[in-house]
Amino acid sequence: MDLSGKVICVTGAARGIGQAYVTALAGFGARMVAADLSDCSATVDLAAAAGGKAIAAGLDVTQMDSCKAMADAAMQAYGRIDGLINNAALYGTLKGGRFDTLLESDWDAAMAVNVKGIWNACKAVVPHMKAAGGGSIINISSLAASYGTPYVLHYTTSKAAVTGLTRGLARELGRDRIRVNAIAPSAVLTDATQDFFADKADQALETIRRMQSIQSNLRPDDLTGTAAWLMSEASLLVTGQTLAVDGGTYMG
Ligand SMILES: NC(=O)c1ccc[n+]([C@@H]2O[C@H](COP(=O)([O-])OP(=O)(O)OC[C@H]3O[C@@H](n4cnc5c(N)ncnc54)[C@H](O)[C@@H]3O)[C@@H](O)[C@H]2O)c1
Repeated sequence: MDLSGKVICVTGAARGIGQAYVTALAGFGARMVAADLSDCSATVDLAAAAGGKAIAAGLDVTQMDSCKAMADAAMQAYGRIDGLINNAALYGTLKGGRFDTLLESDWDAAMAVNVKGIWNACKAVVPHMKAAGGGSIINISSLAASYGTPYVLHYTTSKAAVTGLTRGLARELGRDRIRVNAIAPSAVLTDATQDFFADKADQALETIRRMQSIQSNLRPDDLTGTAAWLMSEASLLVTGQTLAVDGGTYMG
């Protein structure tokens, strides 16, 4: 996959799957912006080790000014923006439980980061994509939305909202040649997944693995090829889609 010439911002890039997107896409030749609440210097180093280029940007997706600062950092460093991966989310830190016991503060925070954060980042970046003549946005949803994962209703609902946002925005931005798609992964072996399932992690991962047609739990690198394809010219007429990368679990 050749992504040379493209400038791509990834939110939530300090660790986990976001870090894998930055590293892999940098290796494919894209110039990357690794943005997160946390320090992204390790991600920048990994991109360099992959033979690519990344800069770090501090980011709180709940704050519009912060999203604009990320876009400004990309423009200052590279002069254009072609891609955005809305990967930042609250996931492992959300406290699970029956729907009527979830913390209201967790519910509000999940919506603020996982849903409104995508809206904010898109508002900051889309004007620059229009100026570049088009672009590609990837929003990260989850199998949790299509399956309807119980006992984490804040998370499940926020990831279902990502699908609607993706479809509506794809229709709005098509005429600007900006594509908007989503990736819905199954459980991925990350630190956040361990936190999410806590003491039931081994059991949950085994159950999820058995639900898959291809029965291997996903690793972050299993998602990067789909992201690279959606960022590339090879997917030029693909928009409004949510691609399940889940080993063949959800087939809707
Ligand atoms: N790991 C999985 O099993 C899995 C499965 C399906 C979907 N996903 C989704 O994939 C994405 C990455 O998952 P992960 O396991 O790497 O999670 P993670 O928790 O390791 O990474 C999320 C990153 O987002 C950052 N972040 C949180 N709030 C932020 C904010 N307000 N502004 C900017 N950055 C913020 C965090 O600092 C963190 O680095 C998430 O959207 C998650 O919902 C994960």
